Amino acid sequence: MGINKKIKEKIVLALDVDTLDEAKILVKELKDYTGVFKVGLQFIMANGVEVFKFIKDEGGKFFFDIKLHDIPNTVKKASENIVRQGASFFNLHAAGGAEMMRQAAEGANKAAEETGQELPVILAVTLLTSISEEVLNNELQIKDNTTNYALNLAKLAKLSGMSGVVASAHECAGIKSACGRDFKVLCPGIRPGWSVKDDQKRIATPAFAVSQGADFLVIGRAVTASGDKIGAMEKIYEEIEGVL
Ligand code: C5P
Repeated sequence: MGINKKIKEKIVLALDVDTLDEAKILVKELKDYTGVFKVGLQFIMANGVEVFKFIKDEGGKFFFDIKLHDIPNTVKKASENIVRQGASFFNLHAAGGAEMMRQAAEGANKAAEETGQELPVILAVTLLTSISEEVLNNELQIKDNTTNYALNLAKLAKLSGMSGVVASAHECAGIKSACGRDFKVLCPGIRPGWSVKDDQKRIATPAFAVSQGADFLVIGRAVTASGDKIGAMEKIYEEIEGVL
């Protein structure tokens, strides 16, 4: 099967494994189907950043899922260094505020220009899915509902120069209508009808997410825990093809 480039650009494969060797096997096996490999802190703290170079050497891109949240100057410098490590995507918490986000964009774009890389995609996390309305209201003392709070942070992220947000496919259409079609939405919690839910609660199928306007789909265990990873990926491609 020829790889559909439009679909490939949407696929963000979560490299949620323990060792560098396991990550290398996944990258080699799935690179033709993957737009961006997502690497998180859990992996980096165990294995260091060698995986970044490996992905690049294999012709791939990576998304550093680091979720920055600090004072603007620190975030700016960190963003510069993340881009110098070759990241095509990284993320931060919108709750760090407009100035923090603007400085992140400034630092990242400066590093991209200096190193001749494409401008990075910077995504804002609005509200972690682990934060319930009760936690938001009673622990964090933010008297708002989670949907409204997340939408306001998405608008702030847009105004502060972010490329988009991380959000559930169920929120995608609302974010697109508030922030515009060009504002990117990356959706985790993706589960094709045939795969198991694992610990995810608010799931969406690849076809539903794309039909809601999702730009990027985080594909994790639906493929990586499958006995036939290429077969699982091809089924996801077929499903998306039906709604593109
Ligand atoms: O295997 P699975 O598809 O559940 O992996 C989802 C990936 O997306 C994991 O790396 C997880 O940390 C991440 N993620 C998520 N839900 C969010 C944000 C990120 O599942 N709200």
